[in-house]
Order: sequence, then structure tokens, then C-alpha cells
Amino acid sequence: MRFFLEIGKVVGSRVWLLALMILIVAGAFNIHSAQAGPNNVGAKKCKECHKAEHGVWKGTKHFKSYRKVHKNKKAKKIVKAVGGKRMKKTALCKTCHYTTDKKDRPKSGPSCESCHGAAKNWINIHNDYGKGKTRETEDAAHKAARKKNATAAGMIWPSETFDVAMNCNGCHGLGNVPNGGDIAKMLDSGHPLNAGFELVKYSQGSVRHRFYPPKVTENQKMTKAQMSAMFVAGQAASLVAATKAIKKSKHAKFVAAQKERIALAKKVLAAVKGSVPAAGKVLSSPTAANGRALSKAVAGKDLTGAVGKWLPTSFK
Ligand code: HEC
Ligand code: HEC
Ligand code: HEC
Ligand code: HEC
Repeated sequence: MRFFLEIGKVVGSRVWLLALMILIVAGAFNIHSAQAGPNNVGAKKCKECHKAEHGVWKGTKHFKSYRKVHKNKKAKKIVKAVGGKRMKKTALCKTCHYTTDKKDRPKSGPSCESCHGAAKNWINIHNDYGKGKTRETEDAAHKAARKKNATAAGMIWPSETFDVAMNCNGCHGLGNVPNGGDIAKMLDSGHPLNAGFELVKYSQGSVRHRFYPPKVTENQKMTKAQMSAMFVAGQAASLVAATKAIKKSKHAKFVAAQKERIALAKKVLAAVKGSVPAAGKVLSSPTAANGRALSKAVAGKDLTGAVGKWLPTSFK
């Protein structure tokens, strides 16, 4: 507060002071919101260096939905139910269905930054190996700092499976709807809520882009073992997200869907807690910190013995 008062003296006007405070507070909130329009750079920018990933995205429902979803009969009914006129101009719909530009105008469907974080503040950090350095010669401390700094600026790294999954859940579990009243209006007017969203099934089909070095031209399929670790991290996120979301609305359909997700996640985590104690912690206290710790504990592990029977055999 002292800081604002000092600035207030310098600027010499309360109106300016208020405007400045609003700007700073708004900025602070935007940094961690993956859908924040003002901080999006757009998928075309990413394409300059990530052509293959962009090619995959163009084949997904996320991409194709942009030209279609607002024309859907159901869409018109849902927009009306929440008091809007047009889907592309309704703030609530923009939260999940569109990637917007600086002026908050929809530019595409859910895209790179919907999943990896609005990039304005991290795009120039995430690929900076340091002066004169390459991927191969960057030292470990620089790499760690780069990852940390990009994360602080809003980037969601693919290796942080729990955070990736929490972010999908915000849209796919309807947790990102700010207001419980709107959840009821959306569901009553026919908005889908798919309790069957599961990270492996939904990320290893049409969405899959895994051009990891050294085979950067190959979209690599996951092994069963890799899927098992991702599945467990995804279920931890399901539990944490659904436990939080369920408090938002008493709508029967909403409550039933969240309960279904919580029940599966509990079964899965109970099946692995014998070999991975961190799973027990998420069960007794479903917090983001515990979820993240579990995700780290299972990375690289083969848990097919414990969770193989739940792994998907077909993908979205
Ligand atoms: C100027 C080139 C460039 C642009 C533009 C660019 N990136 Fe990258 N990106 C890279 C490089 C190089 C790496 C590899 C960094 C490393 O080795 O860790 C990378 C890494 C990544 C990773 C992490 C990959 C991993 O293996 O963990 C993600 C996710 C990513 N970029 C997403 C994006 C998105 C989303 C955009 C657009 C908002 C974008 N990038 C724009 C060059 C770029
Ligand atoms: C919290 C995120 C979220 C918000 C907010 C949201 N949607 Fe959705 N919407 C989704 C997701 C996720 C799906 C896909 C569900 C599935 O099929 O798994 C979807 C699907 C739809 C569909 C069905 C599309 C199809 O292909 O059949 C329509 C129509 C729709 N939404 C309209 C709207 C409208 C209109 C608004 C604004 C009032 C809105 N949505 C707000 C997340 C959201
Ligand atoms: C639906 C969410 C989603 C969207 C949209 C998305 N990503 Fe990803 N991205 C992921 C996930 C999940 C992973 C982890 C990959 C895995 O292991 O399956 C990933 C991995 C990556 C990687 C590392 C793997 C690789 O291919 O090198 C890069 C780079 C990347 N994404 C860039 C992008 C860019 C650029 C776009 C837009 C053109 C994009 N992503 C769109 C979710 C998404
Ligand atoms: C910003 C919100 C948002 C985020 C984040 C998001 N999605 Fe989606 N996703 C949607 C919407 C909206 C649809 C439905 C589009 C439509 O039907 O028109 C959708 C549809 C899909 C579909 C197509 C489903 C089908 O039945 O055909 C898949 C697969 C998918 N998402 C996977 C993922 C995965 C995996 C992640 C996280 C790595 C993710 N999504 C993150 C909003 C989001």
C-alpha cells in the first residue's frame, strides 16, 4: 500500500492512483489465467518454431470447433439462457471455447496457449538457452532457472503433468465457470458435461503431439508404462479439481458428474498408494501441492500392474 501512496504523490491525482492500482491488480490476475486474452500471442506465433505441433492441432476438435460451435442450435439456446446474445461475444463462453486477442476478440478455438498458458510473458524466456549456448551446451542451473522463470510467467510445461491436467479439468469439468448459477443455466439448456474426461484417453488420440528429441520428426506414441504414470497424475488432478468444483453448484447433474469423477480417482489412488505413498496423501488431503508431489513421484514409473485395467484402449 505504501508503494501506491508514494506513486500517488508523484502522479498527484487520486483518479490516476486508482487506475494504476486496477491495472496492477488486473495484471497480477492475468499471469496465471491460461485463457487471458491480453496475454495471448496466438497459435500463428507458435507455428514459427513448432510447425509439427501446429499441424496436429489443426486436426483436432479444438481447432475445428471455431467455425462450427456458435452455429449449433444448442449453442444459441445456451447463450440465451445465460443472458447473452452471441456466443463469440459472451464472456462466459469465451472462457473455454475461444483463444482471444489483445482486445478480447475470439481468434481461434482452444489452442496452444489454452493448454500451455498465455504466452506474452514467457515466450521469450522458455527457449532462451543463454548467450552463445544451445540445447546441448546449456548448463543445468540455467535450464532450471529458465523453467522456473517461464513457469512464474505463466507457462505450463508438458512435463508438469498434474498442472497440465488441472488446466484441462478447468474447462472439461466446468470448474472454470465462475458462478454456480450459470452452471445450472448451462446444464438446463443442454450444455454437455462429460464425466468421462480422462487425461490419457483425451490427450493421446487426436490431440497427441510428442515430437520429443532426439526423434523430433516423429509423433511418438506413449508406451503403456508412460500411460500408466500419466493416468495416475490425471486422476490426482481429477480428484483435486472435482472436490473443489462440487462446492460450486447443487445442480443434480453437476453433482453427479463430479461424484463419479471423485469415485474413480479414489479407487485408482487407493490401488497405487501401497507402492507410492504420495498417492495416500492426495487421498487424505486433495490439494494441488499433494497432487503435484504425486505427479513427480510417479514420473518415469511403470504402474501398469496397479492401474493397467483402467487404461484406455481407444482414444478421443
Ligand atoms: C522462436 C522459436 C519459438 C517460438 C516462437 C515458440 N517456441 Fe516453444 N520452444 C522453442 C524451443 C527452442 C523449445 C525447446 C526448449 C528446451 O529445450 O527446453 C521450446 C519448448 C516449448 C515447450 C516445451 C517442450 C518440452 O519438451 O517440454 C512448449 C510447451 C512450447 N515450447 C510451447 C510453445 C508455445 C505454446 C508457443 C507459442 C505461444 C511457443 N512455444 C513459441 C522455440 C519456440
Ligand atoms: C468451463 C468451460 C466452458 C464454458 C464456460 C462453456 N463451455 Fe461449452 N463446452 C465446454 C466443453 C469442455 C465442451 C465439450 C464437452 C464434451 O463433449 O466433452 C463444450 C461443449 C459445448 C457445446 C457442444 C458442442 C458440440 O460439439 O456438440 C456447445 C453447443 C457449447 N459448449 C456451448 C457453450 C456456450 C454457448 C457457452 C457460453 C454460455 C459455453 N459453451 C460455455 C466447456 C465450456
Ligand atoms: C489440449 C491441450 C493442448 C493444446 C491445444 C496444445 N498442447 Fe502442446 N502439449 C499438451 C500436452 C498434454 C503435452 C504433453 C505431451 C504428451 O506427453 O502427450 C504437450 C506437449 C507439447 C510440446 C512438447 C512435445 C513436442 O511435441 O515437442 C510442445 C513443444 C507443445 N506441446 C507445443 C504446443 C503448441 C505449439 C501448440 C499449438 C499449436 C500446442 N502445444 C497445443 C497439451 C496441448
Ligand atoms: C480452454 C478450455 C479447454 C482446455 C484448457 C482444454 N479443452 Fe479440450 N475442449 C474444450 C472444448 C470447448 C471442447 C469442445 C469443442 C466443441 O465440441 O466444439 C473440447 C474438446 C476436446 C476434445 C474432443 C472431444 C470429443 O468428444 O471429440 C478432446 C480430445 C479434448 N478436448 C482434449 C483436451 C485435453 C487432453 C486437454 C488438456 C491437455 C484439454 N482438452 C484442455 C475446451 C478445452
